[in-house]
Amino acid sequence: MYELYPYFTNDGSVGLFSPQADDIYHSTYGALTEAYEKFVLPSNPDKYLDNKKEIKILDICFGIGYNTKSFLNYYFEKFVKKTKKENSKNAYNVAIDTDNNFNNSTTNKSCNSICNEKIYTDKFCPSIFIHALDNDKNLFFLSPFFKNLDNNKKNNKISFNQEKIAKMLSDKIEVKYKLNNNVNLSILKNIIKNNPEIFEDNEFQNLLTNPKYSDFFDKNMCLLFDYFKYNRYNNTHQINLKAFLHNIYYQHITWRYKRALEAPIFDKIKIKGEITDARLALKNSKYIYDIVFLDVFTPAKCPCLWTIDFLRLLYSHLDADGIVLTYSNSANIRNAFLQAGFEVGKIFNTSANKFMGTVAVKNKELIIKNNLLFELSDYDLGLINTKAGIVYRDSNLNLDNADIIKNHEADVKASSLMSSSRYIKTTRGKNEV
Ligand SMILES: C[S@@+](CC[C@H](N)C(=O)[O-])C[C@H]1O[C@@H](n2cnc3c(N)ncnc32)[C@H](O)[C@@H]1O
Repeated sequence: MYELYPYFTNDGSVGLFSPQADDIYHSTYGALTEAYEKFVLPSNPDKYLDNKKEIKILDICFGIGYNTKSFLNYYFEKFVKKTKKENSKNAYNVAIDTDNNFNNSTTNKSCNSICNEKIYTDKFCPSIFIHALDNDKNLFFLSPFFKNLDNNKKNNKISFNQEKIAKMLSDKIEVKYKLNNNVNLSILKNIIKNNPEIFEDNEFQNLLTNPKYSDFFDKNMCLLFDYFKYNRYNNTHQINLKAFLHNIYYQHITWRYKRALEAPIFDKIKIKGEITDARLALKNSKYIYDIVFLDVFTPAKCPCLWTIDFLRLLYSHLDADGIVLTYSNSANIRNAFLQAGFEVGKIFNTSANKFMGTVAVKNKELIIKNNLLFELSDYDLGLINTKAGIVYRDSNLNLDNADIIKNHEADVKASSLMSSSRYIKTTRGKNEV
């Protein structure tokens, strides 16, 4: 049976653990903070948002979507300006259309339209296309339902046995980022439109309604899902149920959730979720991307998405001014990027005051002109030329992780390169990572 292992990370956002991968999906430090500081901010989103009509993002290993969510949050913060609550000439009316799920048709007059947002014109507000890849359907479907933030620290404990996580949960951090409800609404809107099979998916619905996980889900989003689920059926015997749910919906869903779904900005966001091996999805993809978030489990657990062959494929799907971001500092990952043709740099994390992660581009200027990104140092390049830099291989993009690891171990054993420990000893004091 499918199980979730959720807990609240130190910034109040929900994190997950995977017993199968024996790995965490998100940093215990803060799932949302990690997404902002390792992926979204170093990508220099303004460069794309200010200059392009459409931005194509590839979110490899979407999971429950923090990287996408953080990007969308940034987008909403940039383009949706708060105005006074009452209607104004420059603001648009927004409401949920209770008869036409997420259609562009005119809004139902029975809805109270609540208007407190104003939007820039098309000229300044680019469209966003997000290609979200993950092989776990449940996580993709559940993503818009996870609570954005829990300030209730009594929940900051875990209900499963994981010493390592439990220890790190005592640290408190400053909460710097908060997701707007519009983010989850826009993801739910896209899933309902593009993946209607969600309504028939019992496994997902059992997870969403399992009392064991109820602390982690946003009740308003769950009610909204119920509303849309029953609202789909347009036959007479459902009409009373529909009216009934309509009432529940209006009684229990706060005004924040009632607004905005019909707002023009929501039509600017398209999310295409593909539930499959990311290698297959990328092989079949016809898109060229501006920003790529590569958020795979560690190379030792999931090497299939860190191989030189997969990164070559990624290279062929990156725009000339595109950027790939990942949290890994490993010498062999940096080497694989270099050998795949990328210019490679590293990401400086201002909160941690150290380098955390790797960036790969075609245009080196993107590293040089970004104050969160740095070129690799002589020390980093030296480490790449040791055994630690030996890359993972998967020439037909179809090996399983165990075989990739076995082949990699054989490559390391057969190599005459210096060991990384010897390199580190001989260059002691020069280590900058
Ligand atoms: C570190 S987690 C990603 C966390 C995610 N970015 C988030 O915000 O929740 C790694 C993810 O990789 C997915 N995954 C593992 N192997 C994969 C593969 N071959 N293809 C696609 N997704 C994969 C897992 O299902 C998991 O969701």
